[in-house]
Amino acid sequence: MATFAVTGSASGMGAASAAALSAAGHTVIGVDLRDADILADLGTAEGRERAAEEILARCGGTLDGVAAIAGVGPNMSDAAAVMSINYFGTVRLLERLRPALAASGAGRAVVIGSNAASTVPIIDDDLVELALAGKEQAARERARAAAEAMPAEVRAMVPSISAYASSKFALARWVRRTAVTPAWARQGVLLNGIAPGAVLTPLMLGATGDAADYDPDGFPTPMPLGVFGRPEDIAFWVQQFLRPEARFTTGAILYVDGGTDAAMRPDAQ
Ligand code: NAI
Repeated sequence: MATFAVTGSASGMGAASAAALSAAGHTVIGVDLRDADILADLGTAEGRERAAEEILARCGGTLDGVAAIAGVGPNMSDAAAVMSINYFGTVRLLERLRPALAASGAGRAVVIGSNAASTVPIIDDDLVELALAGKEQAARERARAAAEAMPAEVRAMVPSISAYASSKFALARWVRRTAVTPAWARQGVLLNGIAPGAVLTPLMLGATGDAADYDPDGFPTPMPLGVFGRPEDIAFWVQQFLRPEARFTTGAILYVDGGTDAAMRPDAQ
C-alpha cells in the first residue's frame, strides 16, 4: 500500500479523494486549515514549509504521491490570497516534496486547476507571467490592483475572478512546463492536472450550501450533461493519476467538467 499526501483534505474534492484513497487501504496524510493530520495555511511561506516538514517526517522521506487539491474560489474577497493559495501554495509545496516523490521510484503528483483557465475570458497575462517567474509579492500586488480595476458590479459578485482564472491558468502552464523537466520526468515523478468544472462542494455552494439553488441549465457556462459534478467525480480521476500503473502520462490537463470546455471551445485541442 502507498503513502499519499492530500491537501484540502477537510472538504469537497480533497475530502472525497482522501476518503477514497483510505478506503483502498493507502496511508493518507491530510493537510488543511482544520480537521486534518497537518494543520497549515498553504497561503503563507511558513505554512507551506511546516506542511512540507511534517509530511516528510510522517512519510519518512519517501512519498508515493501528492494530490494538491487545496484552493479557494473566485468569490474570495482578497485577490492576493487567491494567488498565494491556489498557485504558490500548490507549486511551492510540490517543489519541496519532489525529492520524496523521486525516492518512491514511481512518484505521482496531481494538481487541481479549473476549467476557468480556458472558459473565463479574463486571464491576466502579466499576472500569469509573474506567477510562473516565482514572484509572489509582485503577483499579489498585481492581483489586488486588477481586482480593484474591475467594474463594481463584477467585484460585488466575484471579487477575485481574474486572479482565480489566472491562478489556475498559471498552474496548468506550470504543470506542462515542469512535468517534462529532467528533475521530474527522469526521476519517474509524473505530474498532471485536473481541470474541474462546476462541482457541488462548499466552495461552489457558498453561503446557502444548498444544491437546489443551482440549475445546470441556467448556469452561466454550458453544462452539456445536464448535471453538476460531485466531489467523487474528481476523486475518481485523482486516484487514477496516483496509480503506479499510470506510467505514460505526464504534463496532461484532464477536463472533468461535464463537457463545459468542449462545448465552449469545440475546436481547441
Ligand atoms: P472546498 O472549499 O470544499 O475545499 C477546499 C479545501 O481547501 C477546504 O478544506 C479548505 O479549508 C482548504 N484550503 C483553502 N485554503 C487553504 C489554505 N490556505 N491552506 C490549506 N488549506 C486550504 O472546495 P472544493 O470545491 O473541493 O475545491 C477543491 C479545489 O478545486 C480548489 O483548488 C478549487 O479552486 C478547485 N475547483 C473547484 C471547483 C468547484 O466547482 N467546486 C471548480 C474548479 C476548481
